[in-house]
Parts: sequence; C-alpha cells; structure tokens
Amino acid sequence: MEGARTNSKFQYMVKALEEMEQNYLIWEENILEAPADAWTVVNGKKVLMLCSNNYLGLANDERLRRAAIKAIEKYGAGSGSVRPIAGTMKIHIELEEEMAKYKRREACVVFQTGFTANAGSIPQLVDQGDLIVSDELNHGSIIDGIRLSRAEKRIYKHKDVSSLDKILQDESRKYNKILIITDGVFSMDGDIAPLPDIVKICEEYNAILYVDDAHGDGVLGENGRGIVNHFKLEGRVDIEMGTFSKAFGCVGGYIASSEIVCKYLKNKVRPYLLTGSHPPPVAAACLEAIKIVQQDESLFEKLWENTRYFKKELVSLGFDIGESQTPITPIIIGENKPTKELAKLLFEEGIFVTPIFYPMVPKGRSRIRTIVTAQHDKQTLDIALNAFEKCARKLKII
Ligand SMILES: Cc1ncc(COP(=O)(O)O)c(C=O)c1O
Repeated sequence: MEGARTNSKFQYMVKALEEMEQNYLIWEENILEAPADAWTVVNGKKVLMLCSNNYLGLANDERLRRAAIKAIEKYGAGSGSVRPIAGTMKIHIELEEEMAKYKRREACVVFQTGFTANAGSIPQLVDQGDLIVSDELNHGSIIDGIRLSRAEKRIYKHKDVSSLDKILQDESRKYNKILIITDGVFSMDGDIAPLPDIVKICEEYNAILYVDDAHGDGVLGENGRGIVNHFKLEGRVDIEMGTFSKAFGCVGGYIASSEIVCKYLKNKVRPYLLTGSHPPPVAAACLEAIKIVQQDESLFEKLWENTRYFKKELVSLGFDIGESQTPITPIIIGENKPTKELAKLLFEEGIFVTPIFYPMVPKGRSRIRTIVTAQHDKQTLDIALNAFEKCARKLKII
C-alpha cells in the first residue's frame, strides 16, 4: 500500500535515488552495537574504529556516564520546555559558565547541536545591507546559516587570504557590516585556517570574525582550548562556535563570545528560543567533559602521538593524505567506486572507516576519512596500517 502510493507521488525521489545508486552516492548506514570506543561492534562485527570524532575517547568515559546518571536522578530524563520558557535548568547554566571559563570568554550560549548553532546564529548576526564572506570549504551548517540570512554573500578560495582581501577591497564600502566566517579545522581535509592573517584582515576592515572550531576544540591549543588559543589570538576573534559532539563525546553546540553577543543571541536565535533544551544527562555529561579536559593533559599527548605516527606511516606507504595537519587524515582516492570498494575491503579486515564523497567533498575528491583518537595505540594503528596496505594494493590504489 505505502509502496504504491509513494511510487506514484514521489517518482522524482525514486529517480534521484536510482541515479545516486548508479553513481555510488548512496549512504549506507552502519549500525554500532556497542559504545564508540577504539574497538567496537559495527553491523555485528568487532572492528577497529577509525572514523569517529571521539578524539579524546570521552564518549564512553566512565566519568561522563556517571555524571549523566546523577543528572537523571536529580533532574529527570528531560527538561520539558524550550530554554526561555521553562527549559533552563541549573545544569544548563553551569555548562555555559564552565564553557565560557574554558574558552576564556565572558559568556557562552549552548544550543542543541553545532549545526543549529551555526544555522540559527549566522542569520541573526547580519541583515539586509550587510555582507558575509565565507571560505569555500566551510561546513554545511555555515552554508545553511548563510542561506537563511538576508545579507549578501561572497565566497573566498579555500584558506586564500589574498582572495579574501580582494573581496573586501572591492566590496567592503558597499555594505553596513561585514561578517567573515571560517572553519578553524576543516572537517573533510583536516587542514587549519590561517587565522592570524584572517584576524589582521578583519581588524583592517572592522569586520566581525566568526570561527567554527568544531574540530579544533579538544584538539588544538592548551588543554584543547581550540584554534584561537593555538594561535595566541585570544581577545581578537569576535565569535567562537564549537560542538560537544566531537572531542567532548556528547552532543550540543555553543557560541562563546562577549556578554552582549550572547545575550543578543539568546534573544534572537530561533533554535535557542523554539526548540526543547538539552535533557539534563546531556548537559551534565558535556559539563563533565569540559572539566576533564582542563585537568587531564595526557589525553592530548596521546591523541597527537597517534596522529603523528599514523600520518607518517600512511605517507610512507604512498597514500595521498592531502594537506591535513590534525587527527583528521583523509586518504584521497578520487572516484567514488574505488573509495567505496576500499572501505568495504577494510571492513572485511576488521577496520571501520567510511567513504566520503559528494556533497560532503567536491566531486572527484572522494576519500576515506580516517580519524585517530587518544584511545588508539601504536599496536592498534599498526593493525590498521597493515590492512590499509593490503587492501589498497589489491585495488591498485598504491
Ligand atoms: C565544522 C563543523 N561545524 C559544525 C558541525 C556540526 O556539529 P554538530 O554535530 O554538533 O551538529 C560539524 C559536524 O559535522 C562540523 O564538522
């Protein structure tokens, strides 16, 4: 019944899916049947996880689990409301205060996800008569935020400061305000934005600077404070956005900035005003994660030791790892079919990685995106490297 109705009304979807299937563009869901640890169970098979953003291994950390359970016992399973009505519990405020302290900013606003932080905040920061200038490889949530805004947009070439400068030279006088947005660490390539140069340009043109540090938090800087701390730019970046869904092992997004900016966002951003707030165990686990990263430096040391080792070995095997400078290491293959085949062969060898293709990356730049975490060690990475070598040779990729 359902099938017949769907097929007649949604023929365009059937066609689109067929076309995607032919071009190897369909996402097949992999089902985890255990926590997202270095060793986990996916689709019924024990595998070595090499594609999670759980950089510090906190997703299944005992301390986060305990904090979440304690919060359920104290506050219950849900908040029952949106933040401005009756959904702000003390745990939400504690989380915002701790994050502001960690990022060394005056204030912080927490959103349901990083995606909603971007898609909800960007349209409120600018208006008609303003200009947004964005890196061409910025995350999709930034792209959606720009689309939702009434401002004009210009895209500068990836990390190309002269391209950014040229746009501002040509256009800045025509607009009331200018908002420059960049990812800190680019999610599909693992390269780092040239933030010191971008800051200088922002200062020259009096532009507002917005940095998405989803992959810099917990990875770059002192105790993982992120890209602003990494480049010693504290006090010179207007708006820092980040997520709790990666290094902090939970879910949620935030913006850290001045009191004024955060108060404004809390009064303007629709996903803040109009969506239910985080369940208490989520807020509590996020809070615990920020406390841990401020105390435990060994997690970062392990993450970076693993990162350096894995990258070095991949390059010596002959893989193209692009421009990556962080634990996100793409293995660039190009076409979709061999990329998918490599992921499939690796899975058979017990290595869990996902093929990444358009629209997440440009056409012709398909890749396996690997991510090492603090939970790996040399022995587990060697298992992965041996499998990569064996499977890639079989497919004549190296
Ligand atoms: C650069 C970047 N920004 C934002 C997000 C969205 O974060 P979240 O998972 O919290 O929605 C992601 C996650 O994919 C990301 O990679």
